[in-house]
Amino acid sequence: MKESMEVGILGATGMVGSEYVRMLANHPWFKIKYVVGKKTAGKKFRESNEWISSYEPPKSVAEMTVLESKPEDQKADMFFSCLPTDAARELEPLYARYYPTYSDASAYRMEQDIPLIIPEINPDSWELIKKQKSRGWAGFLTTGPNCTSIGLNLTLKPLDDEFKIKKLVVATMQAVSGAGFPGVPSISILDNVIPYIKDEEEKVAVETNKLLGRYANGKVEFANIDVAAMCNRVPTIDGHMETVYLETEKKITPEDAKAALRSFKGLPQELKLPTAPEFPVIVREEPDRPQTRLDRFAGTVPGMSAVVGRVRKGIDDHSIRYSLMSHNTVRGAAGNTILTAEMFYKEGWMFDKR
Ligand SMILES: NC(=O)c1ccc[n+]([C@@H]2O[C@H](COP(=O)([O-])OP(=O)(O)OC[C@H]3O[C@@H](n4cnc5c(N)ncnc54)[C@H](OP(=O)(O)O)[C@@H]3O)[C@@H](O)[C@H]2O)c1
Repeated sequence: MKESMEVGILGATGMVGSEYVRMLANHPWFKIKYVVGKKTAGKKFRESNEWISSYEPPKSVAEMTVLESKPEDQKADMFFSCLPTDAARELEPLYARYYPTYSDASAYRMEQDIPLIIPEINPDSWELIKKQKSRGWAGFLTTGPNCTSIGLNLTLKPLDDEFKIKKLVVATMQAVSGAGFPGVPSISILDNVIPYIKDEEEKVAVETNKLLGRYANGKVEFANIDVAAMCNRVPTIDGHMETVYLETEKKITPEDAKAALRSFKGLPQELKLPTAPEFPVIVREEPDRPQTRLDRFAGTVPGMSAVVGRVRKGIDDHSIRYSLMSHNTVRGAAGNTILTAEMFYKEGWMFDKR
């Protein structure tokens, strides 16, 4: 196993890309070699962020020149891709031809031979990449879910394992950074709530069933959970709040649900990966938590945990309700994907075992 890996970031100058740069600045294994963009190509990275970032990029990256995508010339050990969907559809296969490529975009999430991974939930689906050899790729492509699905499914997994979820109703209040930069015009979102995010409700339903499905015989057998998602854009900057109602096959109480959420851990915690939070789900008892501003950076690795509160009875002994919040560009994108790459690296899935 190489001691450190040189990485490129496709879409480095965007909302998610700048989170990669922040999170990889002092990473013990991964070192940034390329920052790739489109409109900002040719500028220094430090000149490429039009919005007011709350952090200074590390010097080594600040002085890098943003490059146009050139997969055959950009030699690195792996790439992270946070490209918009159309660009991802075109460029990710070109990078996967040569390199391990880890994506946040939705373009290939539902392909049968492409993993959709939350490392604590379904690490075994990594094996799908073995099937990608038939695409003629020397590298591979793996994807992370939508920002709303990630926080939600971290809370659903332990409840599904113990109580078997049948139906899920979820209403979301999603931050503006979820729409990228410049995203929703300020005049449209300030003093406003918009009850529509294109394709989001469909993504939450189908991704939940892929994530909570079972990997067997070389494919993912989807779960069979009825999902009704209602997605809203609200004027917060970072952090998606979600209110959940769910029905289970087995009887469920709020106390049992909280115990399952609190004890949930996965392979990243077992492997002690650098970006793994000690607790993927944090449960709070106060009646008015979680809150976006207070909880988006909660946990031992800030922003990598979903924070749950108001766990209470549903309409009968087979249902519960709760609120959750998770950071959309950290756990909901860059952080989840970095954690996935750490798991591949540590487990030898990136090169040796595939
Ligand atoms: N924002 C979130 O919370 C979130 C969460 C989960 C997943 N995602 C997904 O992650 C992806 C990125 O989202 P974002 O919010 O970071 O978007 P964004 O702020 O609009 O950033 C897009 C980035 O892609 C670059 N880019 C666009 N076209 C390109 C091309 N043809 N070649 C090379 N670079 C190109 C842009 O570079 P220039 O500025 O130089 O043009 C910019 O760096 C999307 O697929 C989104 O659905 C986002």
